[in-house]
Amino acid sequence: MPDLHMLLIPLVLLSGLEQVAMGAQIISKVGCQEKCGNVSVPYPFGIGDSCSIDAQFNLTCNHSFSPPKLFLPHGNLVVLDISPYGELRTLVWNAWDCYDEYGNRFNFTAWTTLARFTFSDTRNKFTAIGCDTVAYIIGTKGQTYTSGCISLCSDITHVVNGSCAGMGCCQTSIPKGLMKYEVEVYSFDKHSKVWKFNPCSYAFLTEEGLYNFSSTDLQTVTTATQSRVVLDWAVGNETCEEAKRNLTTYACHENSYCYSSKNGRPGYLCNCSDGYQGNPYLPQGCQGMSQFLLHGFFY
Ligand SMILES: *[C@@H]1O[C@H](CO)[C@@H](O)[C@H](O)[C@H]1NC(C)=O
Ligand SMILES: *[C@@H]1O[C@H](CO)[C@@H](O)[C@H](O)[C@H]1NC(C)=O
Ligand SMILES: *[C@@H]1O[C@H](CO)[C@@H](O)[C@H](O)[C@H]1NC(C)=O
Ligand SMILES: *[C@@H]1O[C@H](CO)[C@@H](O)[C@H](O)[C@H]1NC(C)=O
Ligand SMILES: *[C@@H]1O[C@H](CO)[C@@H](O)[C@H](O)[C@H]1NC(C)=O
Ligand SMILES: *[C@@H]1O[C@H](CO)[C@@H](O)[C@H](O)[C@H]1NC(C)=O
Ligand SMILES: *[C@@H]1O[C@H](CO)[C@@H](O)[C@H](O)[C@H]1NC(C)=O
Ligand SMILES: *[C@@H]1O[C@H](CO)[C@@H](O)[C@H](O)[C@H]1NC(C)=O
Ligand SMILES: *[C@@H]1O[C@H](CO)[C@@H](O)[C@H](O)[C@H]1NC(C)=O
Repeated sequence: MPDLHMLLIPLVLLSGLEQVAMGAQIISKVGCQEKCGNVSVPYPFGIGDSCSIDAQFNLTCNHSFSPPKLFLPHGNLVVLDISPYGELRTLVWNAWDCYDEYGNRFNFTAWTTLARFTFSDTRNKFTAIGCDTVAYIIGTKGQTYTSGCISLCSDITHVVNGSCAGMGCCQTSIPKGLMKYEVEVYSFDKHSKVWKFNPCSYAFLTEEGLYNFSSTDLQTVTTATQSRVVLDWAVGNETCEEAKRNLTTYACHENSYCYSSKNGRPGYLCNCSDGYQGNPYLPQGCQGMSQFLLHGFFY
């Protein structure tokens, strides 16, 4: 006859561990959809009425796509993933400027406007590819801002794979707080001197470290491509100190602290205090390790 107690102990321990894993997964408001396709939707974001903190965090899950796709409100920007620490990833169109062998131009100016949130200045780089290339990024952040880069080369064997230092590929930073921009691409000589190995120029904003330049990108003609970019998000439109004055609207709940957004715009973020984990934007969202274990044992 085996000792039943010996068999039960591992089961109890297992249910305790399961509870830790399950507890950490409570990310959305009760009764709200937690995922769209394979993308998790943590509060303050939400899908549909009263699932998000405000209308700007109200995402749409479009089931016309398989798997379904998640979108930001007011537009067609897709959400690839959402980090609890104030970042999310989306896709933007690349601008291009192509020529045929007779010098006829085919071009596309790309533009993106955000209703809320900003393009991360620390996580993105404006990138241009080509050997007869002048690329501009023209944005608004209160005032109009223009920047860009130039890339020239006369021989494809001169370019260095993996390097965006101005020969076949160039990169530059963007300012803090950018919410809207347009990308325009031009050439000096309609690619006439380099056309055999480089008929097109491309320019786009993208997550730093993601794009790896290769000389083959100078030769290809790919006109409908998107690039992944990182956006900064924050709740409210005030500082932590101002937000704390009204506990009805203050977004950080118990066992969490407030910190200011780093993108140079108003707003703040919440983080669980040391020893707690979960979603600080939900009531009882930050749970201590001991609470997980307790729930497990009394389950
Ligand atoms: C969702 O699935 C796609 C393709 O299957 C994958 O590339 C992406 O990383 C996944 N995203 C998340 C948040 O798991
Ligand atoms: C959220 O978005 C859905 C679909 O776009 C819309 O029907 C609903 O009214 C929105 N709710 C809020 C609070 O903005
Ligand atoms: C979902 O996407 C399809 C295809 O792009 C579009 O026609 C439709 O309007 C979208 N539905 C919603 C609710 O946005
Ligand atoms: C394309 O280039 C022409 C000049 O050849 C310019 O007038 C036009 O605005 C450009 N179109 C786009 C969409 O960038
Ligand atoms: C760069 O990479 C491409 C494809 O990966 C290769 O064909 C080419 O020879 C490489 N160029 C140099 C200079 O290493
Ligand atoms: C970029 O691609 C080259 C091959 O063309 C590879 O050797 C290199 O490790 C890649 N660099 C990064 C940062 O992925
Ligand atoms: C800040 O947000 C609140 C609520 O969303 C709104 O009523 C108020 O007008 C906003 N203030 C500013 C300065 O944008
Ligand atoms: C706190 O915010 C709520 C909702 O916006 C508002 O009704 C209330 O008057 C505010 N309280 C204070 C003390 O400002
Ligand atoms: C928020 O919490 C995470 C995980 O504990 C930590 O890595 C990060 O540094 C914290 N951020 C801030 C601004 O305190």
